[in-house]
Order: sequence, then C-alpha cells, then structure tokens
Amino acid sequence: MKGAYVKIRNCTQKDFFKLQEMDWAPLPKERDTIYLILTIEHAALSFVAEDREGSWQGVLLASRSTDGSSCFLNHLLVMSSSRSKGVGSALVEHLKVRCAEIGIRRIWFFTNQNNRAFYQRLGFEEDSSFLDEPLAEYARLHKGLVMAIHVQSIGTSR
Ligand SMILES: CC(C)(COP(=O)(O)OP(=O)(O)OC[C@H]1O[C@@H](n2cnc3c(N)ncnc32)[C@H](O)[C@@H]1OP(=O)(O)O)[C@@H](O)C(=O)NCCC(=O)NCCS
Repeated sequence: MKGAYVKIRNCTQKDFFKLQEMDWAPLPKERDTIYLILTIEHAALSFVAEDREGSWQGVLLASRSTDGSSCFLNHLLVMSSSRSKGVGSALVEHLKVRCAEIGIRRIWFFTNQNNRAFYQRLGFEEDSSFLDEPLAEYARLHKGLVMAIHVQSIGTSR
C-alpha cells in the first residue's frame, strides 16, 4: 500500500462511543441506533484503520444479509488528514478478503458519481441487476449509483 502505516482491526462494542461522537462529514451522521446495531451485531464486517499510535485513520461499517450471501457496505469514511494514502482502498480490500473467507458472494452499496472511479479501481461496477426494478429505479433516483462486486471473482482480482 502507498502512504502511511495502517493497521486494520475489527470494530468492537467499545467503538460505538467514538462512532457516535465523531465528525462524519461529508457523510450524514446517523442516529445512534444505527451505530449500536453495526457495532453489536455486525462487528465481523466492520473495521477501523489505525496508525501506529492507535489514532483512527478511517472506518468501514458493513452488514451481512440474513441469508448470508451478500454484504451491504453502509459507511466508508477516511479522516480528511489521512486521505489519498491508500487507507480507503486498504479497508475495502480487507472487506473483500473477509467476505471471500466467509462465503459472501456479493458486496454492494450506494454511492455518488464522485466516488465511482475510486470503487471501479477496486473492482466494483455499477450494478443494480439484483434489485427488483421498482427498487432499482428508486435507488437511481434517490441514492445515486448502485455498485457491486461478485466475490467469487476476488480470488483472481487480488
Ligand atoms: C472516498 C474515500 C473513502 C477514499 O479513501 P482514501 O483513503 O482517500 O482513498 P485511497 O487513498 O485508497 O484512494 C485511492 C485512489 O482513489 C482516488 N480517490 C479517492 N477518493 C476519490 C474520489 N472520491 N473520486 C475519485 N477518486 C478518488 C485517490 O485519488 C487515489 O488515487 P491516486 O493514488 O491516483 O491519487 C475518502 O476520500 C473519503 O472518506 N471520502 C469522504 C467520505 C466518502 O465519500 N465515503 C464514501 C461513501 S460511499
């Protein structure tokens, strides 16, 4: 990875307080219940990137579908002072590996046009084919891009 040292670890329940207090801009801050659910129920797919001193460089929060086959990337934020050093890419690659290990076949999320190139570089494509058409249309209108990657292709893309 280019740039600074980064250690990626799983989220724990203790991380809730920082997630609740931190500045999420430019992303919207969620109500506390969202961070509670993600740190209590989805810690296996939620990660913090830290520097050598343990300061947070970024955070990725994701959740697994009830049938276990897919993963929704809820939040990805790299602290402004840590951007363009490879931290965001490292967090997403970490998620891809973890998903491959536990049998998840698709990672998907909503994003905007500004982030398209970042995710394309990591192997994601615009893809809403797995959504019912009314939902796909709603997503296009209200959520921007739907992007996804098929995890079975991860082995060849890494
Ligand atoms: C998007 C984000 C997570 C990227 O994290 P990062 O650690 O800065 O990304 P990396 O250093 O791994 O970036 C790898 C490459 O993607 C590029 N890149 C980063 N963000 C980009 C963006 N929004 N659009 C296009 N390219 C982007 C970087 O320039 C870099 O390319 P380079 O080395 O040629 O300069 C980070 O900018 C961020 O937290 N943004 C605000 C919150 C946000 O938009 N989150 C995503 C919500 S879906």
